[in-house]
This record gives sequence, structure tokens and C-alpha cells, in this order.
Amino acid sequence: MCAKLSFSGQGLSEPLAQLLLRELEDLAVSAARAAGRFIVQERPRGLGVTDTKSSINDIVTVMDQQSEELLRAHLLSARPDDAILGEEGGASRGTSGITWVIDPIDGTVNYLYEFPAYCVSVAAVIGDAGTPGQWQPVAGAICNPLTNEIFHARRSGGAHVRQGDQDTAIGVNPVEVLLHSLVATGFGYRPEVRARQGEVVAAILPEIRDIRRAGSAALDLCAVACGTVDAYYESGLNPWDLAAGWVIAMEAGAVVSGLNNTGPGEAAVVAAGPGIHRSLLSRLEALAPLR
Ligand code: IPD
Repeated sequence: MCAKLSFSGQGLSEPLAQLLLRELEDLAVSAARAAGRFIVQERPRGLGVTDTKSSINDIVTVMDQQSEELLRAHLLSARPDDAILGEEGGASRGTSGITWVIDPIDGTVNYLYEFPAYCVSVAAVIGDAGTPGQWQPVAGAICNPLTNEIFHARRSGGAHVRQGDQDTAIGVNPVEVLLHSLVATGFGYRPEVRARQGEVVAAILPEIRDIRRAGSAALDLCAVACGTVDAYYESGLNPWDLAAGWVIAMEAGAVVSGLNNTGPGEAAVVAAGPGIHRSLLSRLEALAPLR
């Protein structure tokens, strides 16, 4: 089970905990915005047509690394005692009890092709972010730099999307029937994992309205949060794919879980409005393992 949400280890009263959560959410927003701007403005021209696969991967990796360096510097200049777990640079220790879990570009294949569905994901989590099931996000932000949207949330603060200076509250769709639900999913990179994920999709497809595969797990969770899809499931996610989207979807009213009474994690993430979460979950549990 997941670590219980508590700031008591830090000796914080409830008003102070609320102040800290607000500070973390604001910092997640400013970090995600800065890195989002960076990956768009600095994206090398002609990236998708570079002639060899390894040089393409090298360029994307360099952009990923630079975006992560920017995020690390931004976060640590404001909160030097926090830990960081990033997709590119691994883990660095802290003493505050807060770990930033960051994905400098989620949707890297889309970024490569300039397919407009990639983002920067920044989450503040408590617990041991390196151990599955032992952590929870408390605040997070996801910047879609192409639409200038920043999805953000903190525990008990609701979920919002910011465009310019304007914050708008977001919420999941009230759909009650799985057959009427638009469901997003994603696939891992390993061929044998994809083969199994393809079987699962084939089984689900006749039982839902349709399927979407946008190519960014973080944006898929935002899509559940703002109702552009009804549900999302995937297996094989890393903490940085999941952390910010988890708190945003949850604060928007989604149930976000794993299978069989576990929390969301590598084995599975199932996010949906309360009206369909149980039926989607049961169907996926019957099909497990999902990868
Ligand atoms: C990937 C994307 C994709 C999901 C994969 C992830 P990356 O992250 O989120 O949508 O299906 O499971 O690994 O590699 O673009 O950071």
C-alpha cells in the first residue's frame, strides 16, 4: 500500500501544511513552465528527419538532459533541501522529506516527430519515490508548451488548468457506462511488452466507445482530469511518467489505482471517473497481467 499522506514527520500544523502544499504547487508550475518554454524554443530544426537513428536519439537525449538540468536548478534554487528523482539524472538526496519527481520531456517520440503531444511533468512527492508503492504525490504541474496549458493540483486544493494568468477548475466526465467511454492507453518500448499490451487493447476495444493513444502518459492523465477522455490505463510506467498526472487526475475527481487493491505503479495505472472506474478495473483485473 502507499505511504500515508502526512506532514507530521516534519512537525507541521494543518495551516502550515496547506502553506507548504501551495508553495510546492506554485514551484511545480513555474518549473514546468520554464522547462516547457525551453524544449520548444531550443528544439533543433529538422529533428525528425535526422538521418541515423542513433543521432536522432542523441539529440533527443541531449534536449531531455538539458531540460532536466534546468528543472533541477529551478527547483533546488527555491528549495535546496529537497530530493530529486529524474528520468535522466537519477536520484539526488535531500533532507526536507519532499522529493521532486520530474520528467523533462514526456512524449519523447512525439517530440522527435513534432507530433503536438508532449509535455514537462513536475511533482512533489512524499515517501520513498524509488520504491514502488511507497510514495504519493502531494502537488504537481504538467506543462503542454504547444497549447500553453499548465495543468496543476495540490492535495485537497482541486485541479486547475492555467492559460496565461487565468486558472480554470477542471473535473472528470460524469460517464457511468463503460461502453460509452473514450479510453486512453499507451504502450511500452519493448516488443514483447507491446505484444501483450496489444492483446489487452484488442480485448477491451469492443467494450468501450473507442481508444486513444496520444503518446504521453502525463497528458493522458490530464485528459482524464479535464474530460477530453473518460479513462486511461497503462502498464509499465515509471514514477516520473505518473507522479504529477496522478495528483492532477485525483484532484479532478478521478479514482487513480493499480489492480487488486494496489496503488498506481509499474504493474498498472487505472484512472477514471467514479462512475466507470470499477467496471474498467474489473475488466483489466480479469485480463491481467497487462504486460
Ligand atoms: C512514455 C510516454 C508514453 C507511454 C510510455 C512512456 P517517454 O514516456 O509517456 O505515452 O506510453 O509508457 O514511457 O518515454 O516519452 O518519457
